[in-house]
Amino acid sequence: MHDEEHVQTVDQGSVEWDLSFTEQQARSVAAQIVGFDTPQSVFTNYIVHNKDTNLKASERLFQICSVICDVGHTMLPRQIRPLLIGKDVLDFGCGTTMYGAAFRAMGARSYVGVDPVVDLSRRRFRSRRLKATVNTGVSLESVMLRIPRIEYYQNADILEERTFDTIILHTVTEHLHDIESLFSRFQKALNPGGSIWFLHTNFYSWSGHNQDPKTLKDFDPENPEHLKYADWAHVDFDAPSDHVIRTHLNRLRIGELRDLTERYFSIVEWTLVEDKPPVQARLTPEIERRLGRFSRSELLTKQVICLARKPTL
Ligand SMILES: C[S@@+](CC[C@H](N)C(=O)[O-])C[C@H]1O[C@@H](n2cnc3c(N)ncnc32)[C@H](O)[C@@H]1O
Repeated sequence: MHDEEHVQTVDQGSVEWDLSFTEQQARSVAAQIVGFDTPQSVFTNYIVHNKDTNLKASERLFQICSVICDVGHTMLPRQIRPLLIGKDVLDFGCGTTMYGAAFRAMGARSYVGVDPVVDLSRRRFRSRRLKATVNTGVSLESVMLRIPRIEYYQNADILEERTFDTIILHTVTEHLHDIESLFSRFQKALNPGGSIWFLHTNFYSWSGHNQDPKTLKDFDPENPEHLKYADWAHVDFDAPSDHVIRTHLNRLRIGELRDLTERYFSIVEWTLVEDKPPVQARLTPEIERRLGRFSRSELLTKQVICLARKPTL
C-alpha cells in the first residue's frame, strides 16, 4: 500500500472524517474511552500509553493505580490531559503527591517533580477526596521502581540541565518569592512551542490567606483568630515578618501575575474562577469601600488558571 492511501478523507454528508491518525493520537483516543477515575481505568490508561510494560507481576502497578484513585489524584491529570500525552513534564512544586504516577498513567512520556519537601520514603499522602492525610502503603521510591521515567529533586538545578514540553505549577505560584527569576528559568527550560500551565490561588480572595477559616462553613464569627482573616480582614492585616502570610505567600496581584506571564510567554487561556455565591455575598458595600483599591472582580476571584506557550522559533 502506498503512503498516500493511509491518509484519506471520507465525505459522510456534512461530516469530514480525517483518517490520518498517528499512533499517539490513536493511543490518546483509546485512553479517553476508558476514562480515568477507577483503578482499572488508570491501569488501562497506563498500559495503553506504555506499550513496553511488562505485565508479569503487575499487581504492584495496579496497587499504585488504586492509590492514585484513593487519594483523588486523577482530577488534575484529567483537566490537563492534552498537555501530558507524549510530553516530557516538569511538575514544579509537586509537594508530597502521587501526580508523577498519575501523569505517567495519563500518557506523559516522562515526569520530573521538584519540591524542597520531596521525601521519597514517605508513604503518607494527603487525600483530596478525604481531605486528610492517609497511609497509602506506597512510597515514591516504590513508584519509581515500578514506573520508569519518574524523577524527583529537592532543588531546581534540573531547570538548567533538561528541557521540557510542559511545565505545571498547581497551587504553587502564590508561594514563589523568586517568581520573576523562576519564570525566566522556566522559559529557558521549555522547548519551543512548549506549554506552561498554572493554577494560582488569589491572595485577595475570601480564603486567599491560607489560614483558618478556609471555608465559609468553617467560619466561627466568635473566634478572634478567624476574625483576623475572615471576610477580607487578611488583606489589611499587618502580618509580622515571620508570619506565614509573609514567609509563604508572595501576595502577587492578578494583574502583576498576568504582566509577568506575558513577559516570558504567550498567554493562550487566562481564566478567572470566582468564589461561589454564598462567599460572594460576604462582600458587603462597606468592605468594598474599605478595599476600594481592589476591583470587585479581584476580590471575588478565587483562582486563576493560565495556559501559556513559549513561541516556536
Ligand atoms: C500548596 S503546595 C502544592 C503542592 C502540589 N503542587 C499540589 O498540588 O498538591 C505548594 C508547594 O510549593 C512548594 N514550593 C514553594 N516554593 C518553592 C520553590 N521555590 N521551589 C519549588 N517548590 C516550592 C512548597 O514546598 C509546596 O509543596
